[in-house]
Amino acid sequence: MKEASGDTVFIACNLPGVAQRPFAETFSCRFNDTGRVLAASEVIAGCEGATALVVTATDKLGAEVIAALPDSVRIVATYSVGHEHIDLPAAAARNLVVLHTPDVLSESCADIGMLLMLGAARRALEGLHLVRSGEWTGWQPGQLLGTDIHGKRLGIFGMGRIGRAIAKRARGFDMEIHYHNRRRLDPAEERGAVYHESLEVMLALTDVLCVAAPGGRATRGMINGERLALMPAGAIVTNISRGDIIDDAALVAALRSGQVAAAGLDVFANEPDIHPAYRKLDNVFALPHSGSATSDTRRRMSEFLCAGIREELSGRVASNRLALG
Ligand code: DGY
Repeated sequence: MKEASGDTVFIACNLPGVAQRPFAETFSCRFNDTGRVLAASEVIAGCEGATALVVTATDKLGAEVIAALPDSVRIVATYSVGHEHIDLPAAAARNLVVLHTPDVLSESCADIGMLLMLGAARRALEGLHLVRSGEWTGWQPGQLLGTDIHGKRLGIFGMGRIGRAIAKRARGFDMEIHYHNRRRLDPAEERGAVYHESLEVMLALTDVLCVAAPGGRATRGMINGERLALMPAGAIVTNISRGDIIDDAALVAALRSGQVAAAGLDVFANEPDIHPAYRKLDNVFALPHSGSATSDTRRRMSEFLCAGIREELSGRVASNRLALG
């Protein structure tokens, strides 16, 4: 049922029905039904008279766009946990409240994190091709030999909510959990995982790397050639967070040389124009940024943003408000 709120919300990103519904039931809404990402000028024009703007990672809200938003806009809500597409200092200068969607997508992303590890280590892409092409001639002891992940050392770069959800799953695979993070977790959160203050020290003992750190300037290019060379030969590299944390040219070289046996990638620099080698290499198990892509999670993300917008409109600080300071 629609709440008697005079506030209009402009949903500039394309949302599936399951994700539009919570907004439609709560606010007076304008949706982007074009099926495409809007140009900045369309986002600005669509905000006319709206109190809140909903965007996602593909909508770049740089300082110029933020400065050009109509005065009516008080809240920007991003339909994502990542927020590097929004210039936060510019939002602060404009006194905007910025909301995002932490927690509600962590478990779904962690499920895909495990799929990336297994898909890469067990050569799922080549296996699928063999079955679907009709080229499979039957079971052979030497066919598509992969790498075990059970019993191996998992190095998690970025032990936030998603990293911890991956660690929880990996314990069930008897993996030994190591992590590098800006801060060490409390022992109760660590649950036996080994903290490494140095990323390099962790990489040197990592059989399977999971990149789960936030994107942005601080982490861009951190997994580069020098750091990949520190890993044991034949390691597995996976990325569930942001593509530009990995230096693509360096990873491709390591995949070609065998220094990295296989990669499982759900995110890429410059999506969807990804490094061309990722489309060709047999040892790359790649997904199209599917981490949070389940109907349940899409609905939860919308509900969380709606609750946050309502909180803010009633003068309270929403739990999913980003600190801009
Ligand atoms: C997120 O929530 O940050 C997803 O990666 C979509 O951008």
